[in-house]
Amino acid sequence: MVCVSDVLAALDTLTGGRVVKAPACYAGNNRFVVTKTSGIPGKTITELPGLVWGRPDMPVKKLAVLMTLTESAIELAGATGVDCIVAHHPIAEAANMGGVLARDYLDLYGIAAFELHEAFHGLHPGIAWLHGSKAIRSEISYGGVLGKIVWFGEALPELNTLGDFIKRIDEFMGFKEEEIFLKNEMDLRGYTGIQETTVAARAKIFVGDINSKLGKTITFFPHTGFNADDMEKTYREYQADTFVSCISRPLDDNKMVDKARSLGVNLVAGNSHAMEIFENGIPLARAIKNLLPEIEVRIFRERMTSVPLDVFGTPTLQEYGRKIAREYLPKPKNSAQ
Ligand SMILES: [Fe+2]
Ligand SMILES: [Fe+2]
Repeated sequence: MVCVSDVLAALDTLTGGRVVKAPACYAGNNRFVVTKTSGIPGKTITELPGLVWGRPDMPVKKLAVLMTLTESAIELAGATGVDCIVAHHPIAEAANMGGVLARDYLDLYGIAAFELHEAFHGLHPGIAWLHGSKAIRSEISYGGVLGKIVWFGEALPELNTLGDFIKRIDEFMGFKEEEIFLKNEMDLRGYTGIQETTVAARAKIFVGDINSKLGKTITFFPHTGFNADDMEKTYREYQADTFVSCISRPLDDNKMVDKARSLGVNLVAGNSHAMEIFENGIPLARAIKNLLPEIEVRIFRERMTSVPLDVFGTPTLQEYGRKIAREYLPKPKNSAQ
């Protein structure tokens, strides 16, 4: 019988010993126990790679790997017999639990929860490979900031142009299928205007064109704090012909786009964060399955859509929303509790 302690041991094995195993691991002895804050009071989170909730002796039969824990994921786990969740992104009380306590919600469904974020980054070259390059040098703490990942690489021999790059990403990630799926969703629901992350934030060229040469690459992740100044700094270290923005990307009017242009370097965006479940989720799930073959391993995939208010929900729900908002919201001031 596989237990939660076996899952912890498996995560420790696949990360080469990076997870928290004992109280000593909290006390500055594990560089992956990292606190993240923008300075918003009470919103700081400390990553604890390893077991976040659950007892070591809890049995595990069905484990799900996901990116971000949500109430929807907890409900899916509870309804389908998943007794262990491994989330890639750090877990916070209430924020990742639909506003309530981990203790109350996860115990209700008998779920143990693990997280494995920065401690998983940098373990494999897969994301660079999916983006058509091989990292020659990789940094997981560029400029001394943990999580600011940069790869200095070279395009794989079969990729010669930015057009090859876009085609590779689209094919590998099943972009066509997502596009058809979205169109079918709109046909089925009988309205247009639905937007979806995979399709909206597809791979794209910011600077250069489909015929521009692809050779040396600098890959970065703007949502980790990497900015236009960092672009210049990295370019001084490594004269690449293409910047690859991965997971997140600049908006069209961001200084990063001007910086690429002024340096005479192409700028492309690869996969969005919505695709990380493929990039990191699949390898993580597969590694767990290899180490614990007796358990069933599932992937929880998120699909986020943006729907115009006027068409969202059944006619009954639309009327419900109008009536409630009209009659109760705003609530009269003297009724505030
Ligand atoms: Fe990640
Ligand atoms: Fe992520």
